[in-house]
Amino acid sequence: MPIEFTLNGAPCRVPTRPGESLLETLRERCGIASLKDGCSPQGQCGCCLALVDGHPKVTCAMPAVAADGKTIVTLEGVAATERDLIARAFAAAAGLQCGFCIPGIALRAKHLTDKKPDPSRADIARAIDVHLCRCTGYVKVVDAIALLARAKRGESLPEPCADGRVGSSLARYRAAEHTVGERDYVDDLTRPGMLHGAVVLSPHPRAKVVRIDTTRARAHPGVVAVATAADVPGERWYGLLYRDWPGFVAPGEEVRCVGDVLAAVAAVDRHTARAAAQLVDIEYEVLPPVLDPEAALAPTAPLVNPRHENRLSHSVIRRGDADGALARSAHVVSGTWTTQRIEHCYLEPESALAEPLPDGRLGLYTQGQGVFDDRRQVAEFLGVGEDRIFVELVPNGGAFGGKEDMSIQAQTALLAHLTGRPVKLTLSREESIRLHPKRHPITMRYSVGCDADGRLTAVKARMLGDSGAYASVGSKVLERAAGHACGPYRVPHVDVEAIAAYTNNPPCGAMRGFGANQAHFAIEGCMDLLAQRAGLDGWEMRWRNALEVGDMFSTGQVLEKSVGIKRTLAAVRDRYYEAKRRGRAVGIACGLKNSGIGNGAEEWGKARLVVESDGTVSLYNGYTEMGQGLLTVLIQFAVEVTGLPATLFRPKVDSTYALGCGQTTGSRATMFGGRAVMTAAAKLRADLDAGQTLTQLAGREYAADVVTKDTTPLGAPVAKVKTHTSFGYATQLCILDAQGRVEHFIAAHDVGRAVNPALCEGQIEGSIHMGLGYALTEDLPCVNGMPVTFKLRDLGVLRARDMPQVEVILVEEPEPEGPLGAKGVGEIGLVPTAAAVAGALEAYDGVRRTTLPMKDSPAARAMSVGRIRSA
Ligand code: FES
Ligand code: FES
Repeated sequence: MPIEFTLNGAPCRVPTRPGESLLETLRERCGIASLKDGCSPQGQCGCCLALVDGHPKVTCAMPAVAADGKTIVTLEGVAATERDLIARAFAAAAGLQCGFCIPGIALRAKHLTDKKPDPSRADIARAIDVHLCRCTGYVKVVDAIALLARAKRGESLPEPCADGRVGSSLARYRAAEHTVGERDYVDDLTRPGMLHGAVVLSPHPRAKVVRIDTTRARAHPGVVAVATAADVPGERWYGLLYRDWPGFVAPGEEVRCVGDVLAAVAAVDRHTARAAAQLVDIEYEVLPPVLDPEAALAPTAPLVNPRHENRLSHSVIRRGDADGALARSAHVVSGTWTTQRIEHCYLEPESALAEPLPDGRLGLYTQGQGVFDDRRQVAEFLGVGEDRIFVELVPNGGAFGGKEDMSIQAQTALLAHLTGRPVKLTLSREESIRLHPKRHPITMRYSVGCDADGRLTAVKARMLGDSGAYASVGSKVLERAAGHACGPYRVPHVDVEAIAAYTNNPPCGAMRGFGANQAHFAIEGCMDLLAQRAGLDGWEMRWRNALEVGDMFSTGQVLEKSVGIKRTLAAVRDRYYEAKRRGRAVGIACGLKNSGIGNGAEEWGKARLVVESDGTVSLYNGYTEMGQGLLTVLIQFAVEVTGLPATLFRPKVDSTYALGCGQTTGSRATMFGGRAVMTAAAKLRADLDAGQTLTQLAGREYAADVVTKDTTPLGAPVAKVKTHTSFGYATQLCILDAQGRVEHFIAAHDVGRAVNPALCEGQIEGSIHMGLGYALTEDLPCVNGMPVTFKLRDLGVLRARDMPQVEVILVEEPEPEGPLGAKGVGEIGLVPTAAAVAGALEAYDGVRRTTLPMKDSPAARAMSVGRIRSA
C-alpha cells in the first residue's frame, strides 16, 4: 500500500507491504542511512530515532502506515550549520566510540536543545533514556550534549586539537561523519543487483538432524538460492582454536546449540529471504541436552561436540605448597564465587556483504574483529586460495570480543559464490544473541590465607567455566582466569586449576576482560574478608600485598618493569579515607590485565604507510577499529614520528597487504600496532629528513612487521617464565549514597602512557558502565539451552540515568615494550568493578555477596533495568 509523507522537507510517496515498519521504509525505500537498526522491532535502543511531526519516535516500533501524512525529519534533513555544530560538539567532547548509537542520540540532542536550551546533566540523561550506548558509559555523550547546548546558546566550541601528537586528545578519526550518520556500517551498504540473505537456526540445543528439505523455500517467489551443508565446496568446519564449528549442520549430524545454522537463503529483498527461511522444512530427532558443565564432565555424559572431549581445557598453576601454607596461615577464608553469562550487546548486529569483484575475487565487507582470520576461514570454506578473497573492515558498531568468531561471513560468501551476485546478510537482534559467543559463567572455589599482618600466604582455586557448544577461545578464557587468579598481589604459594567444559548452551568466548573479571570478583572478595580477619581496612590490605617490580605474578613471571598498581592505590588513598570519614559505604578493588595474548603466542604488529598521489598517506595495519579508538592513536604515533599533520593520514583495514596479526584482542592493538606504525613512520621520516617531499615520494611504501615471541606458555618448564609482555593495573572505589545506590565511582588506572587522554578516559568510563551492569543487573539466563529473553531492556545494560558520577585518574607508569610507554587500556576498566561494588554493598548492609549479578542489593534495585530474574 502506498503512503505519502514529507521527508526532510520533500514530498515522498512510497509503496509499503503489510506490517512494514517505518524504519524499514526509511532505510530500505528512502535510503536514509542515519537511522540504524540495533534492535528492530523492539524499540529499545534508540538507534532508529526520527522526528515525526516534531516528536522523537523510534521508527522500528512504528508501522509505516502510521506515517501517512506526517512530516519526518532525520539528521539528513537538519540544517547544515546545525549538523556541523552537532558533529563538532560530539567530536570535541569525545562523545562517541563505535558511533553506531550516536546518530540517534545526536538527533535527540538536537530536539532536546531546541526545546530546552540550557539542560542540566540530569535533564540530558533523562532525555536519552531510550537510547542505549554500550561503549561510552554515557559520560562523554552527556558532555557532548551539554556542549552542544552551550554552542547553540552562542558560546564557542573548543578548538579542535591542532597537533595530533602523542599525549594530545586528537578527535576520533571521522568523528563528525559518524555523529551525523554519514559513515556507513555494513548494513548501510548497497550494491546494484544485491540480494539479501537470511539464515535458519536450530530451535533445539541438541537434536539429530534427520532431514532438510528446501523445496518449499526454493519455490517461494523472489528466492534465488538456498544453501545447505551440501553446497559448501570447501572445509565446512571452522573455529579460532579448533575446527569444531560447522558453518552448516548437515543431515545425520547433531545440532549443538540454538545458534546452529541449518540453511541460508538469498532472495530479492530481506523480507522475502526471511519468509523463505521459514519454509525450510527440517526434521529433528530431539535429544536430551547437556546443560550443566559439571554434568558434562561426568564419564557417562554424551559427547557435546564430536571434535573434542567435553573437557575443553584444563589450565594448572602450581607454585610452592599451597595446602601447607594455608594450614600454617593465621587467617584463611574459603568460599565459592559464581558469575553469570552475559551478552556483549554491541549495538550493531552482525552483518556481512559479499560480492563477486571484476577481477574474479570475492569481496567481503565485514565488521569482524580479525579481517585476516575472516579471510582465511572464508577461503577454506569456499575451497579457494586466500588470494581469491578480498576482505575489508567496514566501520564496526561495537564488538567487545563478541565478533572474534565467524558469525555469518561464510554463509554470506557462499550465497554470493552460488548466485554470482552481491549478497548482504544481517542478523536480527534475536539471531545475534542466539549465535555469537557470550561471557563465560564461571564457578570459582577459593581458599586464601594470610599471616597475622595481612600478608598473603597462599591461594588455592578451582574454576569451572561453561564454554557452551563450541570452543571459540574458551580454553584461553579459562587459562586467563587461572593466570589472574591471584589478582595484582604477591602470593608465595599458588595452586590453581581451571577447566572449560562443552555444554549445549550458547557458546562462550571472548569478552572484554577475558576471564580476568571473573577471577578478580573472587580474589578481591577474599581480600576483603581477609582484611576483616586481620583487622585491616581494604586499602591497607591491598597496599601490603600489591605487586612491585621484582615480585612474582601468579603464573611465576617475575615482573621486571612498569608495575603501576601501587601508584593507582596511592592515587585513591585520600578519597577512600575521606569517604569512610563521611560515613559512606565504600568498596575498593584492584585489578590487573595482561596486554598482549602472551602465554607463548607469537604476536605481530604490521603496518604499511603508502604515500598517495594526492599527498595523503594511507595507513594500513592488521588490527581492527571497533570503537576503542585504535585508528586515531595509530595516526598519533605516525604524527609523532613524521611530524606530518594528522589530517594527512588515512587509516585502512583490509587485505591489500599481508598484515594478518590475528584478532584484535588481549588489549594489544595499541601496543603492537603502535610499534609497527612507529617503525614504518621512522622510515618515512628519514626520507622527509633527506629533503624529499610527499609529492616526490608518491607511490612509496614504508613497511614494518614487528614480532614479539618471548612469552612462555602457562606452566611451561622454562628457566625464565614470562607469560605476558605487559600488564595494565587499576584501583577502583565504589561509593554508595545513604540509600545504598552507587553514587560515585573513582577509577585510577595505570595506562603506561595516555596516547590520547580523552579516548583513554572514554575506554575506562565505558568499561565501568559495563562493569556496573555486570555487577548488578546484567544476565542472560538460559532455559533448555535457549536464552530466556532477546529484549535489550531485559539484558540489564544500564541506561544513562543509571550511571553514577565517574571520575577517572590516569596514571602513567611507562611500559618499555610499548610504543612510547603505552600499554593496553581497553579491557582492564571493568576487571575490578564488580568486586568494588560488592565491597561497598557489604559496607552498606553487612551482606557479602558472592554471586553475580547482585540483584538482591539496594544498588541493583535502584537501577531502571535488570528486572529479569535468573533462571
Ligand atoms: S532499532 Fe529501533 S529502537 Fe532499536
Ligand atoms: S558509541 Fe554508543 S554503542 Fe558504540
